[in-house]
Amino acid sequence: MSSHSVEKGSLPDRFRDLWNQLAPIGRDENTGGYLRYTWTEPELRLRDWFRDQAAQRSMPVTEDGNGNLFAWWGDPADGNAVLAGSHFDSVPHGGAYDGPLGIVSALLAVDELRRAGVAPTRPVGIVAFAEEEGARFGVPCLGSRLLTGALAPDRAAALVDQSGVSLAEALGDRPAGADPTLLGRVGAFVELHVEQGRALVDLDSPVAVASAIWPHGRWRFDFTGEANHAGTTRMADRRDPMLTYAFTVLAANKEARLRDAHATIGRVRVEPNATNAVPARVTGWLDARAAEPDTLAALVEALGTKAAERAHRDGTQLSVTEESVTPLVGFDAGLAGRLRDLLDVPVLPTGAGHDAGVLSAHVPTAMLFVRNPTGVSHSPAESATDEDCAAGVAALARVLTELCR
Ligand code: GLV
Ligand code: MN
Ligand code: MN
Ligand code: MN
Repeated sequence: MSSHSVEKGSLPDRFRDLWNQLAPIGRDENTGGYLRYTWTEPELRLRDWFRDQAAQRSMPVTEDGNGNLFAWWGDPADGNAVLAGSHFDSVPHGGAYDGPLGIVSALLAVDELRRAGVAPTRPVGIVAFAEEEGARFGVPCLGSRLLTGALAPDRAAALVDQSGVSLAEALGDRPAGADPTLLGRVGAFVELHVEQGRALVDLDSPVAVASAIWPHGRWRFDFTGEANHAGTTRMADRRDPMLTYAFTVLAANKEARLRDAHATIGRVRVEPNATNAVPARVTGWLDARAAEPDTLAALVEALGTKAAERAHRDGTQLSVTEESVTPLVGFDAGLAGRLRDLLDVPVLPTGAGHDAGVLSAHVPTAMLFVRNPTGVSHSPAESATDEDCAAGVAALARVLTELCR
């Protein structure tokens, strides 16, 4: 391996040295959160940083025509590659670790293997997937869905961001779509990720292995009424979509609680968005998740029915559009069991979506979680200690060593 500065010091120090290189990129100084939208300036800088890190490790970088980047130790054409990695993009004002931790850990794990003199008999790859959060174009895990064929390239090409820029324009081309050759060369995928809840704090463990991802999806609720004057329109004469929207937010919370599920309306658009006008239209995006697919379906169905009844009473109209759905993911039980035995750590399900969930329908896939002391994620409060991150790197290095021999 080429000699570079991350060689020195303890593993937590080496983690911090590498982490400090990308920590300032895309950070908003006011909130401390990150604005790393896919193919915008900060995310492009992270991609350049990735290429540079790969070059320092003599790992050639390939792109798959869907915006996903791969760095290779060994020739991927040999097949049965062991892949590790995650994503660089963030939600609006997201945390530092969600995504980049998996990529930085994979780079450091490769360093660990080389320090230990491991000579892999399988190619080892590091991946940075595009648009995992769906924060720019609305569809989460966009890069992995395109690669696996779960999303049609024509549908992806036409997605637009909030400024009207299409995905094809941002990528510079129509996405290539499913790549069975590349996918067929991957024998296993391991995504390390910061934990996004409090389970590892409660379990007093720095690392865990994932068992499953809850089924989840996004639905757009369009409420249409009639724009009118706030001062002169009698209350009885209004057709106010904000009322139907407000009812729906409360109903989503209630329906989720009834089922031990999760429902969130975290994004809203109001038109024309004037203080002194009854709105013409309100659009709210529902994010719903549950442990079981039937529970999720029942939740969305019940909410749609209740919101439609309320729209009738308010004299408004409602249309509901499914934007994306991810089925229940059960990670490869053999692989998860192997990792649990190797690392002696807890095994947990999660309600968060990941590229690993998309890959798992095609490739034996596993996830490692690193403890998050605040238990908060998709927020600047997300955190992880250098020691726990180093424990994650060490765990990933053990897993890669085991898999690539
Ligand atoms: C992605 O982080 C998601 O689970 O929404
Ligand atoms: Mn996320
Ligand atoms: Mn993530
Ligand atoms: Mn995610």
